[in-house]
Amino acid sequence: MSPSTATTPSATPPPALGAEPVPVRVPRAVERLVKGQPTSDGAGVRLTRVLSGNLQRRLDPFLMLDAFGSDEAADYLGGFPDHPHRGFETVTYMLEGRMRHKDSAGHEGLLTPGSVQWMTAGRGVIHSEMPEQEQGRMEGFQLWLNLPAKAKMSDPWYRDIRPEDIPAWQGAGVTARVIAGRTHGVAGAVEREATEPLYLDLHFAPGAAFEQPLPAAHNAFVYVYRGVLAIGETEVPAGRMAVLANSAGSDGVRLVCAGAGDGEGARALLLAGRPLNEPIAQYGPFVMNTHEEIFQAVEDFRAGRLA
Ligand code: FE2
Repeated sequence: MSPSTATTPSATPPPALGAEPVPVRVPRAVERLVKGQPTSDGAGVRLTRVLSGNLQRRLDPFLMLDAFGSDEAADYLGGFPDHPHRGFETVTYMLEGRMRHKDSAGHEGLLTPGSVQWMTAGRGVIHSEMPEQEQGRMEGFQLWLNLPAKAKMSDPWYRDIRPEDIPAWQGAGVTARVIAGRTHGVAGAVEREATEPLYLDLHFAPGAAFEQPLPAAHNAFVYVYRGVLAIGETEVPAGRMAVLANSAGSDGVRLVCAGAGDGEGARALLLAGRPLNEPIAQYGPFVMNTHEEIFQAVEDFRAGRLA
């Protein structure tokens, strides 16, 4: 993978238990709530596109977030047969189910519940992502994280991160699984220099609160997938993405599990990153900076030069 932007996977220290929270004095408000669009991709996999084209500039460096979740095999059995990527990274986070990955760079891995696959397409890979089950629940997320122009043609890279290798922070009524970035002194499984992505999976007990410092210039959003969270004055129910305002002077976000009454907790993804502020040119699975580079990607794919 990448090469110039990748941090060598390092041995991660054990989870820090009960570390002191960092106070957030001026929390961000919710700028808007977004309801994902039901769609299908691959060979007929039904999913919800939470973040897509019209928010790529606003949420730079994030290009896409898909949520998938179904107990019906027909919704996922088709999987994602061989397809190309160039110019960015895909991060797949499984909650339930098993998916096998194979790519043209010779990587193969099995995604299991709670695991993450981080793949840098760089100059190009052709890969498949196929379910390794014929029944039962399949649930998870795929995030697309952009690469800076200088790293778009870097070598492909790939890492399977087992559930036990994802560091966790435990606070009062809150557990944060730290997929990328840092929270409360816990370094995540992956760090990236150019975009400094933060990717947390947060589990809340009823009434619990969580604070995360965030640089004001970093774009950030929350996707609630169980229960209800309160962010300032805004209640964010399951299935909604809250785009967080980049207010000058703000220093973080405060999330409170609002599921009062039913005794249920909440679960949500918190994502943030430093914008690249570079042109975005996308054609399907290719994300470059210019149309010429997109034409080149299509040409390279057709000519068998992508893999
Ligand atoms: Fe893919």
